[in-house]
Order: sequence, then C-alpha cells, then structure tokens
Amino acid sequence: MGKYVIAGNWKMNKLPSETYDYVKEVIEATKGAECEVVCCTPYVCLSEAVRAAEGSHVKIGAENLHFEDKGAFTGEVSADMLVDLGVKYVIMGHSERREYNNETDETVNLKAKKALEKGLVPIVCCGESLEQREAGITMDWIAIQIKKAFAGICACDAKKAVIAYEPIWAIGTGKTATDEQAEEVCAGIRALLVDLYDEETAKAITIQYGGSMNAKNAAGLLAKPNIDGGLIGGASLVAADFAVITSAAK
Ligand code: PGA
Repeated sequence: MGKYVIAGNWKMNKLPSETYDYVKEVIEATKGAECEVVCCTPYVCLSEAVRAAEGSHVKIGAENLHFEDKGAFTGEVSADMLVDLGVKYVIMGHSERREYNNETDETVNLKAKKALEKGLVPIVCCGESLEQREAGITMDWIAIQIKKAFAGICACDAKKAVIAYEPIWAIGTGKTATDEQAEEVCAGIRALLVDLYDEETAKAITIQYGGSMNAKNAAGLLAKPNIDGGLIGGASLVAADFAVITSAAK
C-alpha cells in the first residue's frame, strides 16, 4: 500500500543538548531499515536533529506548526521556518494537542494545506476515545476527522500525506489496539479515501498505527495489509527499541 514510514514522536522529551548524539544513535541503530525513518522532535531540538541527520537516511519532523505564513502569533512557528531548518515532516491533529491546545479539525485542515503548499509531509492524526469505541461509533468519528482534515485538498496533494490512526485509549497507556482492531480501522480509512479520492490515491497514502506500538507488538501490527507504518511515542526514546520497530516495517 503506501510507503512504509516509521516516525518517532518525541513529544516533550529530550533536551537540545542530547539531540545530536541521540539522532546519531538512531541513525546507527536503523542503518538497514527498508522504511522511511523519521524523528519528530520538539521545536528547540530541530536544528540539532537536522544537523545530526544530514546526509543520512533519517528525516526530521516537527510536532506542530502554525497555519499562517507569518505575523503576530507569539510563540508560534511557521512552515517556512521549518523548511528553512531542513525539516521534512510535521505532525498535526495529535490527540494531545486536540485536548490541551485547542487543535480542531479546522486547524488540522489549515495546517495540512499549509504544510503541503510548503513541501512538508503532513502526518495527520485521528483517533477515537474509549467512550466512542464502546458506543460503536469509531469509524463514524474517524470519517468526520479525515473528511474535515482533507477538505479542499486535491488528490495530487493528498497522495503525499501520511495519516496516523491513534486510538486515544491506546496512547501512552501500554494498552495497544489488537492487530485486528488496528487493521479494521486502517482498512476503513483506506476505503474512505477511495470514496473521497480514488483507488490509486488511497493506495498511495501511508496509513500508520500509533498507540503504545513497541518492539514487541510492532511486527504483528505492521504485517497487516492496511498498516503502512507507525507513529511511535515512548518507544522512540530508546534507539534500540525504535530500531526493532523500523526493522519490522518491510
Ligand atoms: P505512545 O504514543 O507510543 O507513547 O503511545 C504514540 C503517540 O502519541 O504518537
């Protein structure tokens, strides 16, 4: 299906002073990887991460961006700033930002459009809460998130995007979705993309699973036909664990 992409989401972990050495460790540990390997780091770590990754197979991503080009947005970071640093990927719509930072489907849509316009690969996150899963409305909810995130984005741009399916109840909880649960939703997302675009576009889009993916459970999840990678939180902070996951993506 889509190209395999394993992306670490460091969240608010690691210091700028630790970043260069840690990215070098990731490069060494993931040398033989057959997938795209990405480290998404805090803003303040990005320049060191890019410096360490230069000339290697590892790409660097940011964990957020602002959707405006520039201006009076204190504390914000634009797509141009990320591109200028050498950043290639950017996460948006993560459930933590939806919960704590007023991220909405509308801001995700604006951010995805801006990222694509500037040549960054958007990693668009979606996912249901435990209540929504128990109410049996998982796929309805995901469909709303994806339709809104991709509103006004043409097939030629959508093809370049990555979608991360992250059930909220599995993030950082150690509670992973089963291989079957994850595949069911990722297959549902693929079918939705066929409806929104076409078969070719749906196949080209990388669909990741995220939520307590680790060195032990990655192989089972990544063997599923509609899971083209992972967005990895906790397990991306230990290079050896992250490398086991990247080697399972082939
Ligand atoms: P986790 O985080 O792997 O620590 O569950 C995943 C994510 O939130 O992207």
